[in-house]
Amino acid sequence: MAQKNIIGTSIDRAVELLRAGEVIGVPTETVYGLAGNALDEHAASQIFAVKERPSFDPLIVHVGDVNDIERYVQEVPSILREIMDDHMPGPITVLLQRSEVIPDLITAGLDRVAIRIPAHPMMRELLGRLDFPLAAPSANPFGYISPTTAQHVVDQLGAKIPYVLDGGACMVGVESTIVGVEQGRLTVYRKGGLPIEILREYDDRLKVNIHSDSNPGAPGMLKSHYAPSCGIELVTEYDSGDGIGAITFGETVDGITEEYHYDLSPSRDYQEAARNLFKAMRYLDSLGLFKIQVKLLPEKYLGVAINDRLRRAAAE
Ligand code: TXA
Ligand code: MG
Repeated sequence: MAQKNIIGTSIDRAVELLRAGEVIGVPTETVYGLAGNALDEHAASQIFAVKERPSFDPLIVHVGDVNDIERYVQEVPSILREIMDDHMPGPITVLLQRSEVIPDLITAGLDRVAIRIPAHPMMRELLGRLDFPLAAPSANPFGYISPTTAQHVVDQLGAKIPYVLDGGACMVGVESTIVGVEQGRLTVYRKGGLPIEILREYDDRLKVNIHSDSNPGAPGMLKSHYAPSCGIELVTEYDSGDGIGAITFGETVDGITEEYHYDLSPSRDYQEAARNLFKAMRYLDSLGLFKIQVKLLPEKYLGVAINDRLRRAAAE
């Protein structure tokens, strides 16, 4: 059956659908989101249903402007205030004590709400036209790779949603970095598009607190995630053989069919590699390979977030 084309660039249409309580695909600079009115329990529950996401995994609330945040939170610790002033809009999400306006479903009952201001111009225009914030997880079925183009969203969720606002390919390509304050220390809950090196400038005692399965700190950070359907294997040297694919970072490989090799960045540029990561995984996954081999990148800058996604993709 032919899929009707639900991709478009009409912000009017997106506004109309969101005001009507619908859930749609939206572009951000990190990955595409599956958005609905964050103050409407029904829209929020639709997001969980479309994604097949367990309700213990809370949603990020997206706002258009720093001044909009006040309504949704209680006090903002000064260190987070500084980070927000310097890096929002951008690929960073902050955990703040929530106000009563935020429905329980959004935070999965936790005291803190995750707040983010996306930098994508279309998303910013959309948020500016709405008088409510948007709850938006990445627009993929739970446990699969995040989408970085409108077509990725349609490929997996097209039958379940009325519209995907097309803002082109995502410029960052990995999800936002999540931070909060725990016992007075700046704490990273998800490695993402804003490098940890930058955050460490605000607190040299910075703590990384990423749990590999359900936990009250960041319930969604399951160990096995981003998993394509064929196996991903972390290697130190690439093997050759039938049905073996390879993801590389500025490296040539011998004995691997050209179409089965995806170089994230021939010039070893971390930003380019992050932009290409999920696309590479989706592409190789579509070939029905036996396995995909990949070497971890140097553990710095965006290599940190890329390696985190690769390790999760490789986890059983
Ligand atoms: O870049 C991004 O952050 C993208 C785009 C669409 O904005 N969104 C995204 O959402 O990655 P999602 O739902 O796929 O991942 C959000 C993560 C989850 O692991 C969730 O558990 C965690 O944020 N999270 C959300 N609210 C939280 C809260 N109140 N406390 C702790 N963790 C929270
Ligand atoms: Mg996600």
